[in-house]
Amino acid sequence: MNKLRRNLITAGGIAALSAAFGINAAAADRPAPTGHKTMSKTLIVYYSHTGTVHSIAQRLAKMTGADTYEIKPKTIYDRDMWAAWDVAKAEQEQGILPPLITKIPNIDRYQQVILGIPVWGRTIANPMQTLLSQLDFQGKNVYVFWTFYDHDEKMRDALAQQIRNGHFTSGLPLTMNVVHAPGQLEGVLQKWLMETGLAAP
Ligand SMILES: Cc1cc2nc3c(=O)[nH]c(=O)nc-3n(C[C@H](O)[C@H](O)[C@H](O)COP(=O)(O)O)c2cc1C
Repeated sequence: MNKLRRNLITAGGIAALSAAFGINAAAADRPAPTGHKTMSKTLIVYYSHTGTVHSIAQRLAKMTGADTYEIKPKTIYDRDMWAAWDVAKAEQEQGILPPLITKIPNIDRYQQVILGIPVWGRTIANPMQTLLSQLDFQGKNVYVFWTFYDHDEKMRDALAQQIRNGHFTSGLPLTMNVVHAPGQLEGVLQKWLMETGLAAP
């Protein structure tokens, strides 16, 4: 494997990388959750490495009127999944939580939180683990959707353990097959929002 591609890209390269890959880097600089002129009752907090979770979070925000807040790690993982995994795996094995350049979102004014997470190593992607280690959910209900290809076996236990002082109320696993099936994702999201009551205005 090309050594260069395995190297992480420093925070200084975020803008260029984001521009190159169409990722919304502006979110990294957001001081506070944004999305609507008046505060909504739901905040969607998410991490996205390659844009999948990002687009689902934005879609859910449109469907529910929720605000969104994207977290970003200080050091961006390689775009190549296997190169990123080399680094992420070592972090997971050593219990290293990657620092974030985004602040911890203020959830005080929200009634509930939706988390959007890519699966890494069958569990919560490392940057979201950093956030969860720092965020107190203040007794709120926490709803989680996650995206993955075929292995997410550790997600539910990890979420139950890492959502501090919150109620892990509902989890929505989304395989890439569903994410990329034309027309299917919308229905799955709608069903989840109805079941959880998140759809209510
Ligand atoms: C470091 C890394 C580890 C991953 N580990 C898994 C895994 O264990 N199981 C799986 O099904 N997919 C795995 N994937 C695929 C991601 O889950 C998938 O790329 C992600 O959900 C896409 O969301 P995103 O575009 O918002 O980053 C991994 C991807 C990366 C980058």
